[in-house]
Amino acid sequence: MVKKNACIFISGTGSNLKNLILQSRNYNFPINIKIVISNNKNAFGLIYAKKNSIRHFLINTKNDKYIYQLTNILINEKIELICLAGYMKILPKKFLDLFRKKIINIHPSLLPKFKGLNTYKRVLENKEKKTGCTVHFVNKNLDSGNIVCQKTFYIAPNDDEFTLKTKTQRLEQVVFPEAIIKIYRYIRI
Ligand code: GRF
Repeated sequence: MVKKNACIFISGTGSNLKNLILQSRNYNFPINIKIVISNNKNAFGLIYAKKNSIRHFLINTKNDKYIYQLTNILINEKIELICLAGYMKILPKKFLDLFRKKIINIHPSLLPKFKGLNTYKRVLENKEKKTGCTVHFVNKNLDSGNIVCQKTFYIAPNDDEFTLKTKTQRLEQVVFPEAIIKIYRYIRI
């Protein structure tokens, strides 16, 4: 199988990055993780890139030129899929236009509900019966692009923000790889 070159964007822990690296070792998994991009030099996830000898780049989003540098890296590396895995910055419209339908994001709620930050708190405050996580294409509106894959679980009466996060992130380990398989097998971007 000819794998597509992928890039993972992170800002923090990198549990999704870790899982995607593991999945990508599978011959049948459609992507090869060529590079990792982080906007945070202290992102724990960078350890997984280093451990697995994956090239990684730190970007400084405060520098006006960062988007040109980033674009160059992605074009030079022939990146065909960009996975935002806990990347906490908004990407400029110009960049989104350039990589249209090539950027996906994972979000810890059942979109279109609870876009944005503090999802677990808001889910509990709203007394939702169920929650979950979503992988979606990225467009210029926050957490609003077409949904690729979504998984749900029922909230237990004693769930708090911590347990919701744990349960959601466990499900993310299933949803992200499944979304990537779906994109190349059925959506064919
Ligand atoms: C995930 O829960 C994801 O849904 C959200 O940020 C978190 C990132 O976690 N966008 P990690 O860095 O992959 O551990």
